[in-house]
Amino acid sequence: MSKACYTLEDLRNWASVSAEIDPPARLAVIGDPIAHSRSPQMHNPALKARGIHAQYIRVHVAPGSVAEALDLFAQHGFVGVNCTIPHKFEALEAMDELNGLAVALGAVNTVHLHDGQKIGYNSDGPGFLRSVEEAFGKSVKDLRVLIIGAGGGAGQAVAIQSALEGCPSLRLANRTVTKLAPLVKNCQQLSPTTQVTALTWSDEEISSILDDVDLIVNATPVGMKDGDGPLFDYQRIQPRHLAYDMVYRASSPTPFISAARAGGARTCDGLQLLLHQGAISFGHWFGEPVPLEAMRSGLMQS
Ligand SMILES: NC(=O)c1ccc[n+]([C@@H]2O[C@H](COP(=O)([O-])OP(=O)(O)OC[C@H]3O[C@@H](n4cnc5c(N)ncnc54)[C@H](OP(=O)(O)O)[C@@H]3O)[C@@H](O)[C@H]2O)c1
Repeated sequence: MSKACYTLEDLRNWASVSAEIDPPARLAVIGDPIAHSRSPQMHNPALKARGIHAQYIRVHVAPGSVAEALDLFAQHGFVGVNCTIPHKFEALEAMDELNGLAVALGAVNTVHLHDGQKIGYNSDGPGFLRSVEEAFGKSVKDLRVLIIGAGGGAGQAVAIQSALEGCPSLRLANRTVTKLAPLVKNCQQLSPTTQVTALTWSDEEISSILDDVDLIVNATPVGMKDGDGPLFDYQRIQPRHLAYDMVYRASSPTPFISAARAGGARTCDGLQLLLHQGAISFGHWFGEPVPLEAMRSGLMQS
């Protein structure tokens, strides 16, 4: 039996806590909050499909404790850890070794614990590319991209990944606009052929550029909660737009996805990103083959 969610205190007392966990916990996701995470629902079927006698658990870790938690996971024989909101920057600082893409994207969401070393990867960026290709049959390199919430960990990763792909244009909006200046500079350096601009986030400004945008990405948590307002004037969504929401909700589409569908646009929600970034993480831990369809059906049934 395992609990829905463990704590840092549980990790500190792991010898007694883990005695009841069968199969043994060898993978975890940490975040604050974490109870909503659907990662176990896709990784546990993947472990079963590969015949690996282990399980994936949720652990609540507060900001400031990521390094301690990762050291404890390593001591307790864990193979890997996913880091979600708000731990992706703190995890980057706690690594012994960093994969090149994690350095470029400035955040770690996947940790491989191997030979006493903590090796950091980022699967959000490549997971974004794969989910866009699967949902829309298009490559980000050919799309004019708007990212709302580009100043956050996920938004920044997606912006830099889009620049690395060489997309023709990249428009970045963020509630705190001052966060965008270094990101704009970084994206321009990575892809001199990409037209990179920072926007003031207002209905007028976003509406005024939508004729020149193909892919609209929500990288804010707006839409997670009932009662969240719109990101912009959804009446301006056009049928040719590709609407991508990093947020996913348990029971219904997000307001952005619902509005985009009502406007005739094609959509991709956060579950598809969760699936593809999870599959890439699994590959870092266990190599090929990654049982993608077992992960997909685990997610869809949950
Ligand atoms: N589906 C997946 O697999 C997946 C993967 C990664 C992330 N996500 C989702 O993506 C979202 C962002 O994650 P993150 O890691 O980037 O978080 P983060 O680092 O905390 O960044 C949050 C971003 O959203 C903005 N924001 C927060 N609340 C807002 C509000 N009420 N109105 C407008 N903007 C707001 C922030 O703006 P400021 O800079 O002004 O604070 C910032 O740009 C979360 O909902 C997360 O669950 C999903």
